[in-house]
Amino acid sequence: MKTIKTQVAIIGGGPSGLLLGQLLHKYGIDNVILERVTGEYVLGRIRAGILEQGFVNLVREAGVEQRMETEGHVHEGVIFSVQGKDTRVDLKGLTGGDVVMCYGQVEITQDLMQARVAADLPTYYEASDVQPMDVKSNTPYVAFTHDGEEYRLDCDYIAGCDGFHGVSRQTIPEDVRTEFERVYPFGWLGLLADVPPCHEELIYAKHERGFALASQRSPTRSRYYLQVPLTDKVEDWSDDAFWEELKKRLPPEVAANMQTGPSIEKSIAPLRSFVCEPMQYGNLFLVGDAAHIVPPTGAKGLNLAAGDVATLLKIFRRVYEEGDKACTEQYSEIALRRVWNAERYSWWLTSLLHEFGDEAGDSAMDPQMRDRFMTSEVNYFLQSEAGRKVIAEQYVGLPYEDLK
Ligand code: APR
Ligand code: PHB
Repeated sequence: MKTIKTQVAIIGGGPSGLLLGQLLHKYGIDNVILERVTGEYVLGRIRAGILEQGFVNLVREAGVEQRMETEGHVHEGVIFSVQGKDTRVDLKGLTGGDVVMCYGQVEITQDLMQARVAADLPTYYEASDVQPMDVKSNTPYVAFTHDGEEYRLDCDYIAGCDGFHGVSRQTIPEDVRTEFERVYPFGWLGLLADVPPCHEELIYAKHERGFALASQRSPTRSRYYLQVPLTDKVEDWSDDAFWEELKKRLPPEVAANMQTGPSIEKSIAPLRSFVCEPMQYGNLFLVGDAAHIVPPTGAKGLNLAAGDVATLLKIFRRVYEEGDKACTEQYSEIALRRVWNAERYSWWLTSLLHEFGDEAGDSAMDPQMRDRFMTSEVNYFLQSEAGRKVIAEQYVGLPYEDLK
């Protein structure tokens, strides 16, 4: 058994773990990342492409912003198309200057990985049997196997950044943990293609045939989504069938000018709202998808993870710079306030913009009546400036809370 030592052990080398690791390094806090798969595998996962201002600021604070600044595109607005009527939500105007950055999360992950290599920070890829141990004690450690050898990673704290299926959340005893979950009765079929975007800003479309989203990665790469029944298989959808259906759901003038082409990637993702409370147990802290999942409507997944990272960074800085260990107690409470806000927003946008068919959504009422209410609600919010402001200030992201 090999013993190694660090200050913060990070389980999971996805975007959450990498961002936390890079920021801790900036402030002189040692960390080791343990990742179950290879770096190439991590980069192969398809992600969304909208970064909130807070996330962008963290990437700058980590010193990894160079490529994002040149290749990313600032979006000052977003379009909502409801049953044929388009409304632009002027993010910048309605929020007093806030915008979002369109830059692929896969690109950010790659930039963070490269920065980690350049700084020569320790990462164990293909680490197996990773297990947080003695997390309630003052001497926690993480046991794992690497290259056939057993390791013990002694540390002060463990950051569980290991996603929804990771081991960290399971380490919190069931009688301490409460999990909230809603699985939606549909999925998103996503298609990536090397064609110019159909519109300069994102279009979220509510249509009687189902929701659609026009997004983008660059001036030459587009990302589109269609709401599909959970019973659909990706093999059921040829590229032609996808484009044809997409054109029916997007505004006609946009569809008429849309460039189509062969897909680079096509997959179906289920939609889920999930929260685990609390987000800490002893010296173990859950970060990102390990603690919460949002449906993608509103692109809050990674942005929410960034909020957790920001809070945990403030805590670790106070611990190591000021010796205040008691401040760690604040993590879950602060993180969960932001989590529930984004969960509510993502659930709300999902409810407003999707077709639930014979399902009554989250209400006990007749499905058709619910549908009338949702259509009325989304139209009301879009035609009222106050309503658009409510949509905008949450779309750009609520501010990060300070420690007490
Ligand atoms: N040991 C080590 N690593 C693990 C383990 C384990 N037992 N289980 C999972 N992992 C790794 C996964 O292989 C993955 O690379 O943890 C990482 C978790 O990454 P993500 O699932 O991407 O979660 P996170 O980093 O929190 O990213 C947040 O942003 O795009 C959004 O919601 C989307 O998942 C995304 C989120
Ligand atoms: C994406 O570009 O993949 C994307 C954008 C916005 C969303 C979801 C996904 O709300």
